[in-house]
Amino acid sequence: MKAIARAHTNVALIKYWGKRDETLMLPANSSLSLTVDQFYTTTALEWDESLQKDSFVLNGKEVEDAKVSRFLSIMRQQFQLTSFARISSENHVPTAAGLASSASAFAALALAGSAAAGRNDDRKYLSKLARLGSGSASRSLYGDLVIWEKGNRDDGEDSFGVPFTSELTKDLAIVVAVVSDEVKKVPSRLGMQSTVATSPFFPTWVQEAEKDLVAMKEAFAAADFITIGEITEHNAMKMHATTLGANPPFTYFQPKSLQVMDKVRELRLQGIAAYFTMDAGPNVKVLCERKNEKLVASELTKVVKDVFICHAGEEASVRIDEA
Ligand code: ADP
Ligand code: DP6
Repeated sequence: MKAIARAHTNVALIKYWGKRDETLMLPANSSLSLTVDQFYTTTALEWDESLQKDSFVLNGKEVEDAKVSRFLSIMRQQFQLTSFARISSENHVPTAAGLASSASAFAALALAGSAAAGRNDDRKYLSKLARLGSGSASRSLYGDLVIWEKGNRDDGEDSFGVPFTSELTKDLAIVVAVVSDEVKKVPSRLGMQSTVATSPFFPTWVQEAEKDLVAMKEAFAAADFITIGEITEHNAMKMHATTLGANPPFTYFQPKSLQVMDKVRELRLQGIAAYFTMDAGPNVKVLCERKNEKLVASELTKVVKDVFICHAGEEASVRIDEA
């Protein structure tokens, strides 16, 4: 039986940065993200007893991928299966945007793997499963705003994504400014490992992120967009500050990233509420209200060539291919 799943990527407004358990992929802090409509992964999977090994085709090319292999073994163990998987996956992301996130990838893989095994797993279970592929994937099972609760248990059973509702969700836009199409030098997994192990700022980051999440929930409850934006920007910069304190120090900032940030500050001086955030790569994502998205996008194209306007995206979905 072949299942075809689709999951969207997400952009964290309160970042996940650092693990308390590398094997179970448990985060040091809780995080909050917006699932976005523009970027997604579609994955078709069937468990096939006739296969001698797993087969993974990504964007039309057969590839060996250690993270995917590890994840398939986890699914086999959890589903009590012995067969290998035939997978075909497409990342629907703008060319060279550097946004082929592991979040949409592992959310789609978990959902397709489960459905193809004839299971009817609930979202909480799937979120915990996807987390074992990539932490941020635990949030991509859901649409709109999602909180990944860090949990406190050692076995990770209380660490999963939970939908967070706000009347503001439909008014939000994230304008992505593509700064570079190069593969990042420090993958997020290695970057956070190095930060946890060597940055003296890491413990402070964890405390700050927890405080930011509390303040963020209050700001959403009050529908206070300016405070939401301010917390988003400050939280991202605190995360990036930890990388400068790592040993050896590293940064995801590129000169163009800083230029985009300057442009956003300039917009604010003109009265446009826009706030930047960045992940483990140089591209800058600008949070604004939908009513200002075209203006923000057109101003950002003065700094970078490619700009994409995103809104809240749907939850991950799956269908069985009867053919
Ligand atoms: P990002 O920061 O964009 O998440 P990562 O380097 O963390 O980048 O993730 C890239 C990894 O995600 C790849 O090495 C691969 O393991 C996995 N990946 C990407 N796309 C897919 C896909 N469509 N299906 C399965 N795994 C994927
Ligand atoms: C900076 O989820 O890609 O984007 O769990 O090691 O696979 P692993 O890392 P990943 O890290 C994402 C980090 C981030 C912030 C975020 O999305 O919360």
